[in-house]
Amino acid sequence: MLLTITDLHTRFFLDEGIVDAVDGIDLALPRGGTVALVGESGCGKSVAALSVLRLVAPPGRITAGRVTLHGERDLELTALPEDGEAMRRVRGAEIAMIFQEPMTALSPVHRVGAQIAEAVALHQRVGGREAMTRAVAMMARAGIPDAARRARQYPHELSGGLRQRAMIAMALVCRPKLLIADEPTTALDVTVQAQILALLRELQAELGMSLLLITHDLGVVAEMAQTVAVMYLGRIVEHASVTDLFDDPRHPYTAALLRSIPARGARKTPLAVIPGNVPPAGTRLSGCPFHPRCAEAVLGTCDVGERPALLEVAPGHASACLLRQRAIGPNPLDPPSLEGRGKDSGDTEMVM
Ligand SMILES: Nc1ncnc2c1ncn2[C@@H]1O[C@H](COP(=O)(O)OP(=O)(O)OP(=O)(O)O)[C@@H](O)[C@H]1O
Ligand SMILES: [Mg+2]
Repeated sequence: MLLTITDLHTRFFLDEGIVDAVDGIDLALPRGGTVALVGESGCGKSVAALSVLRLVAPPGRITAGRVTLHGERDLELTALPEDGEAMRRVRGAEIAMIFQEPMTALSPVHRVGAQIAEAVALHQRVGGREAMTRAVAMMARAGIPDAARRARQYPHELSGGLRQRAMIAMALVCRPKLLIADEPTTALDVTVQAQILALLRELQAELGMSLLLITHDLGVVAEMAQTVAVMYLGRIVEHASVTDLFDDPRHPYTAALLRSIPARGARKTPLAVIPGNVPPAGTRLSGCPFHPRCAEAVLGTCDVGERPALLEVAPGHASACLLRQRAIGPNPLDPPSLEGRGKDSGDTEMVM
């Protein structure tokens, strides 16, 4: 493994209350492999990524858990000072990130090439001229035509697709061991999107880099990743290989996401086809947090008690759905004892 995330919690302390943006996730990123993190807007994907890089700004902070970068010696990122030298070395040189909004990563007042060269100079002992040579070479590698001329331009002079390529060049110029790509292609049209994904795959193979790919788009997952983690309200609710997850989803939320994939060639629609909305951040539901939207939810089982844990329900396949977990037990359809809960019968009832 290159990186392991263990029981990570990241919270925002707002006047209105506490938001558990990342509420105890475990994830392992293998060397050279691609893991996709998927889920609807607001489920905590970006905050999880920013937590790995220790870039969560107040009022947010990591409140528990560990992020460990494995190497000759393990480095526990969560134990390092956020703004210290060690963490700065990790950012860029070991772990790079492509942000959801390209303009947040590129400064509008500096030329593109100079910004990329600065990233080189920051992490590698090379002179300014060599840094610029490497910057232009990586821009060309990232598919920017006429890279030497483009390097002298400002970000606003580039198209969205070229800006995204510039950001990829900036992320990869120091040859990081892990690239975190947060919705790297969402803002781009389909043709450019396909080119960028092909480029990422190519550079990944060339650099032997691990990729944590954050996306709404299950089509992109199928094309890029070997493993998928599905997040809902700050937790991972299903984790499996891409093949297992697509062929045999073991969480109703994942099944609903899969049903919401638009047919090939159809106009892109957001994943709003799952009935109901994600409850507002900070809402604490008893039982499974997906139960109010789940067509399979069983009253008395799914809406009570603690949030279900993520457990293995088949080899290499974990689900946080109680019904799926019980289905592998001895007596799948036996309703739980409702004694002491004030319910008058053990009959099951569909929530929706
Ligand atoms: N700076 C912040 N202050 C307060 N709450 C925040 C902040 N950043 C994120 N959150 C909250 O944390 C939760 C997770 O947000 P996050 O941005 O990680 O979602 P996401 O899965 O990346 O969504 P999207 O797909 O829209 O990018 C949300 O409830 C969001 O409102
Ligand atoms: Mg996000």
